[in-house]
Amino acid sequence: MSNNLVTVAYIAAIVLFILSLGGLSNQETAKRGNLYGIIGMALAIGATAFSAGVSNYTALIAVIVPGVVIGAFLASRVEMTEMPELVAVLHSFVGLAAVLVGIGNYLQPESGLVGAEETIHMIEIYVGVFIGAVTFTGSVVAFGKLKAIISSKPLTLPGRHLLNMGLLIGTVALGFVFMGAEGNAGLPALLGMCGLAGLLGMHLVAAIGGADMPVVISMLNSYSGWAAAAAGFMLSNDLLIVTGALVGSSGAILSIIMCQAMNRSFISVILGGFGQGAKSSGGSTAPGGSATSITVEETVELLNDASSVIITPGYGMAVAQAQHAVADITKILRDRGTTVRFGIHPVAGRLPGHMNVLLAEANVPYDIVLEMDEINEDFADTDVVLVIGANDTVNPSALDDPASPIAGMPVLEVWKAANVIVMKRSLSVGYAGVDNPLFYKDNSQMLFGDAKANVSAILAEMQKTAKILAMAGA
Ligand code: TAP
Repeated sequence: MSNNLVTVAYIAAIVLFILSLGGLSNQETAKRGNLYGIIGMALAIGATAFSAGVSNYTALIAVIVPGVVIGAFLASRVEMTEMPELVAVLHSFVGLAAVLVGIGNYLQPESGLVGAEETIHMIEIYVGVFIGAVTFTGSVVAFGKLKAIISSKPLTLPGRHLLNMGLLIGTVALGFVFMGAEGNAGLPALLGMCGLAGLLGMHLVAAIGGADMPVVISMLNSYSGWAAAAAGFMLSNDLLIVTGALVGSSGAILSIIMCQAMNRSFISVILGGFGQGAKSSGGSTAPGGSATSITVEETVELLNDASSVIITPGYGMAVAQAQHAVADITKILRDRGTTVRFGIHPVAGRLPGHMNVLLAEANVPYDIVLEMDEINEDFADTDVVLVIGANDTVNPSALDDPASPIAGMPVLEVWKAANVIVMKRSLSVGYAGVDNPLFYKDNSQMLFGDAKANVSAILAEMQKTAKILAMAGA
């Protein structure tokens, strides 16, 4: 393939990636956005594979075919609730790739680079390997935390900020050794820095508590983009530079949006909790009182008498896969004239937009699915709130208890409604590991059990009542 044709294919791929990001910003256009991304990536891989620089097709096929088969097999088996883990693993691959490209590039330098060009190329390698190593180990620790292999509690080593500072100073010092070395003599410094950067990535993510993990995931997404852009510089591949920059900047924007939604300082989170007090270590007081339970029949009675209902779903609805039965209940209530809306917290579930995707899959109309800020003022005028498998996102201690690990995070203020029914299996904590005083409030009642079993039982009871009413009317 001629260089001109490759350039045209690259430009087309870049445009498709931009259209893809635009499409993904809205549920109604998300499928189209995905398609643009797939076509853009196919074009990018095809153009690169057939470009003049590639000649060893045996090696290329030997790595691409098993990669495609393993990737397709694993991705097809991943549950929606396991997506963050998959994303963390994929980020770690990007980081590792940037490290390997950097080391490979250093050991087999491009011919003809001298003077300033050579210096710039060496800096590209050093910075690329640094970002890649931080991304790799940070993503591995994030995977461990999300999979609960590693505790989600923040690791607060004494003098941890000094440790980070020391690792950074070591990185800069080794950078001078690396830049001053002749030939391949800088390899020990490069590998040494790789070790320090790996430690830094591990420590930065380990220091972040479970409640701030959504930000970590989007932040690692951003890092993986910058690692890819760095690899693009090392390989002089414009498409990789632009694509990496798109991923890096969109990940950074998402991280900032997440931080705003959770009332966290972006800088503090990316620096492993720098500037935060002791609140992230979980020193809140356990809520007192006893929780009241409610039956399915009593829940249906409350719903029958309600004129306004808000449903706030969370991770438990996703695990139980209760969204279809929830959609059917919504339809019955709306057909009867009850106002039903959904309140979605920005970090409900385990990935951005998790609840929106599930509700869209169950054909819940978009116009009744509202963001937290759009609905929070309406709880006070609501008869019944159904909290389905949500916990941290409806925890009043975020607002009342300054010692809580989630203090300051905006939450859905469900307790302001006349009646709150919380569906979960027990009184146990959510992802952030924080007790929830909501369960013990006078207007709260617990409908214990699996969310799907309970929502299906409510649906069956409502259908039974609807049938009796229809027969009586006939
Ligand atoms: P969580 O606070 O995680 O609570 C979910 C609750 O669902 C649990 O307390 C659990 O209680 C219940 N549950 C689990 N399986 C269930 C089932 N089969 N049936 C009924 N209930 C079930 O959920 P949330 O309110 O959605 O908050 C999300 C949390 O995850 C936040 O802390 C957030 O920071 C974090 N997080 C979010 C993301 C993103 S980007 N969304 C990414 C990583 C982490 P029982 O065990 O008692 O049933």
